[in-house]
Amino acid sequence: MSNKKFQLTNLATGKSSELDARAGTIGPDVVSLAGLYKDHGVFTFDPGFMATASCESHITYIDGDAGVLLYRGYPIDQLAQHSSHLEVAYLLLNGELPNANEFRDFHDSIRRHTMLNESLLNMFHGFHHNAHPMAMVSAIVASMAAFYHDTTDIYDARHREIFAHRIIAKIPTIAAAAYKHALGQPFVYPRNDLDYTSNMLNMFFAVPCEPYTVDSLHAKAMDLLFILHADHEQNASTSTVRLAGSTGCNPYAAISAGVSALWGPAHGGANEAVLEMLEEIGSVKNVADFLRRVKDKDGGVRLMGFGHRVYKNFDPRAKIIREMCHKVLGQLGGADSPTFELALKLEEIALQDEYFVSRKLYPNVDFYSGIIYSALGIPRSMFTVMFALARTAGWVSHWLEMIADPSMKIGRPRQLYLGPTQRDYLPLVKRK
Ligand code: CMC
Repeated sequence: MSNKKFQLTNLATGKSSELDARAGTIGPDVVSLAGLYKDHGVFTFDPGFMATASCESHITYIDGDAGVLLYRGYPIDQLAQHSSHLEVAYLLLNGELPNANEFRDFHDSIRRHTMLNESLLNMFHGFHHNAHPMAMVSAIVASMAAFYHDTTDIYDARHREIFAHRIIAKIPTIAAAAYKHALGQPFVYPRNDLDYTSNMLNMFFAVPCEPYTVDSLHAKAMDLLFILHADHEQNASTSTVRLAGSTGCNPYAAISAGVSALWGPAHGGANEAVLEMLEEIGSVKNVADFLRRVKDKDGGVRLMGFGHRVYKNFDPRAKIIREMCHKVLGQLGGADSPTFELALKLEEIALQDEYFVSRKLYPNVDFYSGIIYSALGIPRSMFTVMFALARTAGWVSHWLEMIADPSMKIGRPRQLYLGPTQRDYLPLVKRK
């Protein structure tokens, strides 16, 4: 408990109540308002959750003003430099970094779950070849609920662990199948002799008619992107997973809800939108005109990949990805460098512009990620799928944290009702 106390007084009735603040290990205190309706008959109103903590969590911490991101206390730049996506997934799920035996067991378990049931794989054939891959991934993940319903008891810790390992293991297979289906190429089965990210690249790019060797630089770059995207506390898709999961629904259905929420351009879909925007701008000489349209609010144009609800400073992930762009594009022979140069110039100009400065709008994780995905051969429509693949570790960790909490309640917000008051039904013949 924090030692801060707040007092709420209804000035009409004079009734007062004391509100306790709770302190986190770091970050702002939260004022507990659960008794407000009981004591005063009012709800709080906070559309978009501008100042509402929706749950307790031990997983990820963001200081948006300082540009800090910690997974289970570890700074993102240290994890990006030294860890791997699978190790980060273990950390998010379990709270601690694994020792060698724990990591080996975890990796073995993930390997055991990489294949998809053939019937599940066959479901891809029901989609048109140009279906958006996010729609396919969301539908296939939801369909896993049909395959693993009776065998998933969410109140059984071992069942929850199997769910967690299974979805983390299968999501690259699902992502790759969505890609192969769009191309009309045969599905490539997982290879359990490869590490997590190399296996994903192999399933994407191998074909039966010629040998394919995963480039270790590609695998390293992709793995780093996965680490950076693995979790981000109570963002829209994670909150969606928590809200859906709080009903006690099948966890695969809850993760599918998260995939759908991530797809929007204000959230994970921004990586796709950034490349569309850079293509539309075309060259540095058009930047000023584009920014004029962004600043003219009536045009409805946003600088995609800029701004964040929590970061009012550099998104630490964007800094790491920008560095990575220099390195990866350099090593790959500058595959997409005109786009990167345009992005760098756009960032430089925007960061000096009063509009963006006064609103504290900085590049976010999605500003540069698409440039690297493109350089690695991932098509634009798959960018958000890559994000979903990485974020699965975070979604699952939050779902596990919530379900294992004995005080879990169904998420049920209230509203400020502004519709008609009670009125009587009129038969059709009597209506004007
Ligand atoms: N371009 C132009 N103006 C912007 C932008 C932008 N990208 N972002 C915010 N603003 C303006 C906004 O118009 C508002 O101005 P005013 O105060 O004059 O009305 C002010 O900045 C505050 O914006 P907001 O929309 O109230 O802020 P928010 O916290 O509700 O929105 C956001 C956050 C990420 C949705 C928004 O910044 C945005 O739409 N960015 C572009 C999309 C994007 O890059 N999304 C990826 C986010 S990071 C990855 C992830 O979350 O998945």
